Amino acid sequence: MNERHTRQRLVAGNWKMNGNLGDNARLLEGITANWSGAEQVKAVICPPFVYLPQVAKAIAGSAIELGAQTVSEYKPGACTGEVAAEMLADWQCRYVIVGHSERRRLQGETDAQVAEKFHAAQEAGLIPILCLGESEQERDAGLALKTIGHQLSVVVERVGIDAFAKAVVAYEPVWAVGTGKVASPEQAEEVHRFIRAELGELGPSTQILYGGSVKPGNAKQLFALPDIDGALLGGASLSAEDFVAICEAAA
Ligand code: 13P
Repeated sequence: MNERHTRQRLVAGNWKMNGNLGDNARLLEGITANWSGAEQVKAVICPPFVYLPQVAKAIAGSAIELGAQTVSEYKPGACTGEVAAEMLADWQCRYVIVGHSERRRLQGETDAQVAEKFHAAQEAGLIPILCLGESEQERDAGLALKTIGHQLSVVVERVGIDAFAKAVVAYEPVWAVGTGKVASPEQAEEVHRFIRAELGELGPSTQILYGGSVKPGNAKQLFALPDIDGALLGGASLSAEDFVAICEAAA
């Protein structure tokens, strides 16, 4: 059964490695002045670590929540350059993205590491946004669902399926990230339905976001699909106008 009506929508902005104090201040002002929230939609901003304090301050008392882009799989201690989940929680982060395809590709993060990060996030009370997605070659070879199923299964084996009661999943086809190419409604819906089925009893209640070149012009069509519960935005989250327009499309 598809409990679409009971799943809240979520629009999360992944700023990636973008921003500076001045631009962020203008962007945050534009967002908080124009988005006052909606009952069925949560909006989240995930800035680079160094800007967490700036964003936390700017969104205090607003309808926006705070997230981070990654987290260490280790406990606080001797781990130079890393940021622990407890530290993110200290800044009132509620969400953290784990397993983004850029980190899998550029930092060589493995499925096993992603599973540890997911676990570390939940241990600290954060909600992981687990990114799954196939490359273009995998899709062309007919391996999209197999790839996504495997990425998901490694996390499920580590944390158990019940852990997904406090997690969000994001389907981000690698070929659609930052390329302007968007999965067709059929492609997106097929994968979202598949992920929901893989989650068994928790499938109907788990929020599953789509990410990959979501813009104000295509958001409504994506949100109209029964198994898409929101979006993980890259480029569009760097424009207040676009971010707010997509939040409004979700409402
Ligand atoms: P774009 O929206 O820029 O394609 O990025 C998507 C993404 O990677 C969000 O995490």
